[in-house]
Amino acid sequence: MFQTAALSGTQAEQYDELATQARGLLSGERDRTANAANLSALVYHALPDLNWVGFYFFDGTELVVGPFQGQPACVRIALGRGVCGTAAATRQTQRVADVDAFPGHIPCDSASRSELVVPLYAGDALVGVFDLDSPKPDRFDAGDQRGLETLARIFLESLA
Ligand code: SME
Repeated sequence: MFQTAALSGTQAEQYDELATQARGLLSGERDRTANAANLSALVYHALPDLNWVGFYFFDGTELVVGPFQGQPACVRIALGRGVCGTAAATRQTQRVADVDAFPGHIPCDSASRSELVVPLYAGDALVGVFDLDSPKPDRFDAGDQRGLETLARIFLESLA
């Protein structure tokens, strides 16, 4: 079994530790489903105040739910729709302090109050999105965004 030490130190130090754990967990494996499943589980259990962590993958037309931790989720999301579809269409991380104030937010788990979605691109090709939900309003700050974008990069690099 993969052993993970509890995170400690400043927020930046904790994300550095988590990045090291993620590199170790994904190293030597290129399978997208396997790496998405393990990264979802790692992050879900390492970070506090999350109720959903996972992936949507682009099937050539829309986003389709992939490996995740949390409650069952909506399966298909059109590009440009909701927080996930907006991240995919704009190529910009969406950090949403209050999901109820986000136009078109798609409620999958009614407990979710804030959300962060990182778009996943391999060059110009859309791979999907990495999505995190929290039951706490304004759960994600700029440091979380930086740390989670690094984890998304580690995931993409593992597939190359
Ligand atoms: N809330 C997302 C949908 C996915 S779930 O949160 C797992 C959205 O608006 O795109």
